[in-house]
Amino acid sequence: MPVIAVIGAQWGDEGKGKIIDLLAEKADVVARFSGGPNAGHTVVNPYGEFRLHLVPSGIFYPYVLCLIGNGVVVSPSVLWEEIEQLRAHGVDTSRLFISQRAHLIMPYHLLLDKLEEESRGKKALGTTRSGVGPAYVDKVARLGIRMEDLLDKENLHHRLQMVLEQKNAILTKVYGVPPLFLEEVYQQCCQHGESLGQFIRQIDPLVQQAVERKEKILLEGAQGSLLDIDFGTYPYVTSSSSTAGGGCVGLGLSPTKVDHIFGVFKSYITRVGGGPMPTELRDETGELIRGRAHEYGATTGRPRRCGWFDAVAARFSAQINGFSGAILTRLDILDTFASIKICTGYKVDSDKLNYFPSSAVVLEKCQPIYEELPGWQSPIDHLHHFDQLPPQAQSYVKQLEELIGCPIVLISVGPRREQAIELRPLW
Ligand code: GDP
Ligand code: IMO
Ligand code: MG
Repeated sequence: MPVIAVIGAQWGDEGKGKIIDLLAEKADVVARFSGGPNAGHTVVNPYGEFRLHLVPSGIFYPYVLCLIGNGVVVSPSVLWEEIEQLRAHGVDTSRLFISQRAHLIMPYHLLLDKLEEESRGKKALGTTRSGVGPAYVDKVARLGIRMEDLLDKENLHHRLQMVLEQKNAILTKVYGVPPLFLEEVYQQCCQHGESLGQFIRQIDPLVQQAVERKEKILLEGAQGSLLDIDFGTYPYVTSSSSTAGGGCVGLGLSPTKVDHIFGVFKSYITRVGGGPMPTELRDETGELIRGRAHEYGATTGRPRRCGWFDAVAARFSAQINGFSGAILTRLDILDTFASIKICTGYKVDSDKLNYFPSSAVVLEKCQPIYEELPGWQSPIDHLHHFDQLPPQAQSYVKQLEELIGCPIVLISVGPRREQAIELRPLW
């Protein structure tokens, strides 16, 4: 019966795609509720290796209904390419549906994401440049184009005319770049309407029916809680609510219907893009983690910044989301280390902080206070039971559990579905 939300608990790329692909085996519905093609969810399964940006990671099970909710911003070209790629690998996409209310990423959003980043100079946020931020700006400014607009050509033309007038003024007068042509943008939209029209649906009734039928529903979080527009390291954040609350507004699901909220944590931490990161390792240990884990962005290919597990940030994340369980991924990456550090507090000048500050300026000044644990220095990627783990690995997990403040329910020890240690039944 349960509805489970799977939420990124750090700065994204925690392994949500792998976890969803694993849990979806027993699910009836998998739904994306926020973010857009800035997400890159890696799934490694018998169909191959995929980096999904928009399609929910439950798509590989032909019986699972896959929904893209109203809270997502959709790039029609990225989505279409993804659908074609999946089909080419023999994946059935006939149970994929997109909310009629989801907003589109338009050509001017892509341009503006790039131009705005360039104009920030050294203070650039390091966005994925996928147009996500500008698309959410237009949603809030009530200037957005929604999926359902693709199906009403007359209204689409009318809205585009109005919106483009404003966008072209910004492009030409603020940034000094050429304007976009109404008819060209309109024709592109009409083409997208033709290819994607079959997928556009009213999603909220589908969600509600599934709840009434007591089906198993998985909410697939995107990004991470520390990138959340409200609770992340503002302004170095994404433009949507990536925390658990976003799951309800992004799908039309009542908060009373969510049974479990699982936070996905890497066994260390990474960040891609700008912004403070107290435990970042700018040394050979950081290089070692990046090399072993191949920490390069699934969307942009940028090297990810790597560091030790930050338990201050983790506890904050657990509290604002109300995690009922934590999922630990990539424990195998730490196999070769003689000792492993965990950040349990911050030092700012001569003060000690044991909470996650709201100000990015303060966080930038935070020096990690570490606790050091012995490593296990043996491979664990083939293990399936907690008691098979070396004692040092068990201690590390127990210590993280204590510091995060909620039970660890699953440990992932490799990218493939079967590389997992279940500590308690998840459904
Ligand atoms: P997401 O955005 O949260 O879905 O995460 P990404 O796909 O961007 O990055 C996670 C990376 O870790 C991917 O390359 C996964 O294949 C990989 N991965 C996930 N879980 C594990 C694990 O337990 N061990 C190892 N070695 N790799 C993992
Ligand atoms: P998944 O779902 C990691 C980061 C970008 C940048 C900031 C703002 O794969 O975990 P944006 O393009 O959203 O305006 O960029 O957010 N970012 C992510 N980092 N994983 C993601 O998604 C991310 N989505 C956005 O790098 O720092
Ligand atoms: Mg990712």
